[in-house]
Amino acid sequence: MTDDEFIRYLAAKKSLDDRSLNAHVYARFVSELAAAGARLRVLELGGGIGTMAQRLAERGAFGSALPEYMLIDEQPHVITEARRRCAALPFEVNALAIDAREFLHTQTGVWDVLIANAFLDLFELKSIVPLALRALKPGGLFYFTINFDGVTKLLPQIDASYDEEIEALYHRTMDERVIDGVRSGDSHSGSNLFMHLRAAGAHIMASGSSDWVVCAEENEYAHDDAFFLGCILGFFEESVGARSEINASRFRTWLNARRAQVARGELIYLAHQLDFVGRAR
Ligand SMILES: C[S@@+](CC[C@H](N)C(=O)[O-])C[C@H]1O[C@@H](n2cnc3c(N)ncnc32)[C@H](O)[C@@H]1O
Repeated sequence: MTDDEFIRYLAAKKSLDDRSLNAHVYARFVSELAAAGARLRVLELGGGIGTMAQRLAERGAFGSALPEYMLIDEQPHVITEARRRCAALPFEVNALAIDAREFLHTQTGVWDVLIANAFLDLFELKSIVPLALRALKPGGLFYFTINFDGVTKLLPQIDASYDEEIEALYHRTMDERVIDGVRSGDSHSGSNLFMHLRAAGAHIMASGSSDWVVCAEENEYAHDDAFFLGCILGFFEESVGARSEINASRFRTWLNARRAQVARGELIYLAHQLDFVGRAR
């Protein structure tokens, strides 16, 4: 995927996340924000092109408060785009290209609010959760959303048992992913977060599902969903296609059939995810 394609993927994902974020968890997040005062210091981890900051501005989540909003992401081209897209927001977004773990090691007890959307599931929870929560002031608020939780479905079926084998291998690539020598990813991050948050002393105030469901209406996908689905199939290609268990030609036939389903507006994609709001100890 090129840098421009990744930016388009994140932009396409925004409208899907808008539809998918758990409304009950979001409402609790906003009511806790309202009680938090006017001069909030907000940190977003792996914030990409700033879609969460844009969403919170569009929805008026901060009311009349003007937060100091800091967004970090490891990819410099993504940060450049975040600066561009967030320039007109009613609050200033300070965007910084840095590895989240490196940044978090320098932060103890300094932020009122911590946000991570479609981010924590890229890491080993037992290390990232306490490291992230430590950055909050005592009792600080966290909003951790779109945490993948073990279910991917592509419909209609092509071959039920082969579909299942591919979906299982896709999850295994998340569980076995190693980046810079460190275990990174968990295909059951959503449900595992309950225990990891508690183990880190956090108080979970609300939780609920934020499943992605992409289905065309009359074979016409909404927004940029067709492009988004193409990216998801690209992720399958990169991850599952690199597995030694896979027969390359059978997998290529399967991928081509899935891409043809997208072209005809037939492919339905489901991913189970969970959202959390709560407070650090
Ligand atoms: C799935 S994207 C989600 C982006 C954004 N939160 C959103 O929902 O649009 C994950 C983001 O995490 C960033 N990322 C991955 N590993 C990171 C790390 N170690 N430190 C900082 N950012 C990281 C990627 O560059 C990417 O922008």
